[in-house]
Formats: sequence, structure tokens, C-alpha cells
Amino acid sequence: MTHAIRFHRTGGPEVLQWEAVELPPPAAGEVRLRQHAVGLNFVDTYYRSGLYPTPLPSGIGAEAAGVVEALGEGVTDLQVGDRVAYAGGPQGAYAEARNMPADRLVCLPAALSFEQGAAMMLQGLTAQYLLRRTYRVQPGDTVLIHAAAGGVGLLMCQWAKVLGATVIGTVGSDAKAELAAAHGCDHPIVYTRESFPARVRELTGGEGVPVVYDSIGKDTFMDSLSCLRPLGMMVSFGNASGPVGDVDVGLLARMGSLFLTRPSLFTYAARRSDLLDMAGELFEVVLSGKVKLQINQRYALKDAARAQADLEARRTTGTSLLLP
Ligand SMILES: NC(=O)c1ccc[n+]([C@@H]2O[C@H](COP(=O)([O-])OP(=O)(O)OC[C@H]3O[C@@H](n4cnc5c(N)ncnc54)[C@H](OP(=O)(O)O)[C@@H]3O)[C@@H](O)[C@H]2O)c1
Repeated sequence: MTHAIRFHRTGGPEVLQWEAVELPPPAAGEVRLRQHAVGLNFVDTYYRSGLYPTPLPSGIGAEAAGVVEALGEGVTDLQVGDRVAYAGGPQGAYAEARNMPADRLVCLPAALSFEQGAAMMLQGLTAQYLLRRTYRVQPGDTVLIHAAAGGVGLLMCQWAKVLGATVIGTVGSDAKAELAAAHGCDHPIVYTRESFPARVRELTGGEGVPVVYDSIGKDTFMDSLSCLRPLGMMVSFGNASGPVGDVDVGLLARMGSLFLTRPSLFTYAARRSDLLDMAGELFEVVLSGKVKLQINQRYALKDAARAQADLEARRTTGTSLLLP
């Protein structure tokens, strides 16, 4: 037996329950992990609320770090005792121990702790593909990053600076503006009181930006499009304020032959070789000290409901961990 957070119906954070669950031996291709730190991510709230459908009852969570405790049949490239981390795979990371497909695991370098592993896999791999593949940031680019003081946001601001960009970031408060500025955001905009499109035009001499990284969704989508220069790229990668809904593609022509993409980490990291390349680049930039992880909230795993409530109420900054 082990313990995990599960939910039997969709709804608010209160549907999350701490339960004793049976853990079968790992199946072929799986390993059993003893988890030492679990990542809290906004995407977890989409499964819990029902925005992203999942069969019920369900486990929850997509990121953790821990130690391999047992090997299923056919697993040859991992050993009992290996330190590993993951982002993705089946829901169920909010658990003391679990089985995971071995091909989703990445070995943690000795210099990275379990907490660092759990803090960087999902948000860091996301920052990696968004900045390096979806729109490849070039030195001299000015980029707009929403929720710049959040988990993905703080990583992206720092990494975009490493790539030689000027960073404009939106944030919900003055305290968050200060935090973003301390992590590479050249121009924080408090979008809860200031119109960000007007400010972006002002900061770019009227030209607009080549890319907007928009994780807010419904509330910012249209304004984000209006920040782009002709042929700019709208990267709509999240729905923190709600889903964007239907988009009139003619709008993209009228606003300057814009590109629109709705990317997901799980497509970009689907092939194991891509996952390993992406993780290699992420580990390098973190170990070099150029991108610093900001673990600003820690909760007991049992308190996952409170952690999700804080995340949805915009009370967190940087990354949050759940500790078994
Ligand atoms: N597509 C992908 O591959 C992928 C992968 C990872 C994450 N994501 C997305 O990236 C986003 C960030 O994820 P995260 O885990 O790092 O979370 P986060 O940014 O730490 O938290 C979400 C932030 O969104 C902002 N926000 C604006 N309007 C909001 C609203 N109505 N309700 C709640 N928050 C609102 C808040 O910051 P302010 O107060 O500063 O506005 C809040 O702190 C999420 O949308 C997530 O779904 C996408």
C-alpha cells in the first residue's frame, strides 16, 4: 500500500482526497518509484476541474523526482537506486510511490537534488521548447511573456535573457513585477491596472514584438495578437484564465499575416530522443547557474488541495513543490 491524492468527481480543489492505494508490481516496461518531491503545475488544475477530460476516479499530477525501487520486465537501461525525474506520462504524480513507464524517465545529474528535479522538468522543458523550437529566440529580439513571475514565466524570462532577448513581461502585482525584474524581465507590466498592448507598442517604437508567449488564454488572447508585428508568432500555450474558444482565422490575415500555434510539451517531448535532448539542454543551463530555479512554495503532499487553491488564486510565484 501507498498513499496518493485522487479525485472521484471533477470540481474545485476540495475534490482532491488523500487515499491509501494499492501499488501493484511494475508492469513490463515500467519501474516503481519512491518519490521525494512532486511538482505542482497549473495543468493539474485543468484535469481536476474537468477542463481536460480524464476517466474517473483518477490520480493527478505530471511531474516528480525520486528513486527507482523495482524494475518491470524488459527494463534494461535503468537500475534499482537510480535517481530520476519526469514530466508527463499517465496522471498520478501526487503520490508517495508509483509505477511509471521507464521511457518517460530522465536520470538526474548528481549535482541536482530531487527538489530541483521536480521543480524543473515540466516548467523547464516547456521553457526550453517554447524558446528554442516553437519560436527560436534570436539575440536582439524583444519578446512578450505573460505571467512572468509564475513557474514557467520566471524560467522563460531568465532563459530568454541568456539567448540575448529583451524581455517584456506581464504580472499581476507590484511585488510580482519586482520578482520578474530580478529574473531577467527588462520591462514588467502590471496588466491588472495597465493596458499591456499600449505599453508594448511604446516599448517597441510602435513596431510590435515578433512573438508573444501567452499562457493566460481567454483574458489576454485578443490583446496579445495586437502586440505582434506583421508575420509575428502567437504562441497560445495555456488557459490560466479559461480557454480561448473559437478563433476566426481571417483575423490573423487582418492583423498582419500572423502565425498562431497552440503547442503542448507532450507533443514536443513525445520521442525519447527529443526528451533527452531537451532535458540535456535544460540541465546544462540550470547547472551553469544562468537560469536559477525559484522554489517559492513548499506544501506537504497531503495538502495538495490548498496548494492548488493558492495557485489558482494567483497567490504563488515561481515554482511550488508537494513533499511526500
Ligand atoms: N502547453 C504547454 O506545454 C504547457 C506546459 C506547462 C505549462 N503550461 C501553461 O503555462 C501556464 C503557467 O503554468 P505554471 O504552472 O507555471 O503556473 P503559474 O504561471 O505559476 O501560475 C499561473 C499564473 O497565471 C496568472 N493568471 C492570470 N490570470 C489568471 C487567472 N484568471 N487565474 C489564475 N491565474 C491567472 C497568474 O499570474 P499573475 O498574477 O502575474 O497574472 C498566475 O500566477 C499555465 O497556463 C499552464 O497551463 C503549458
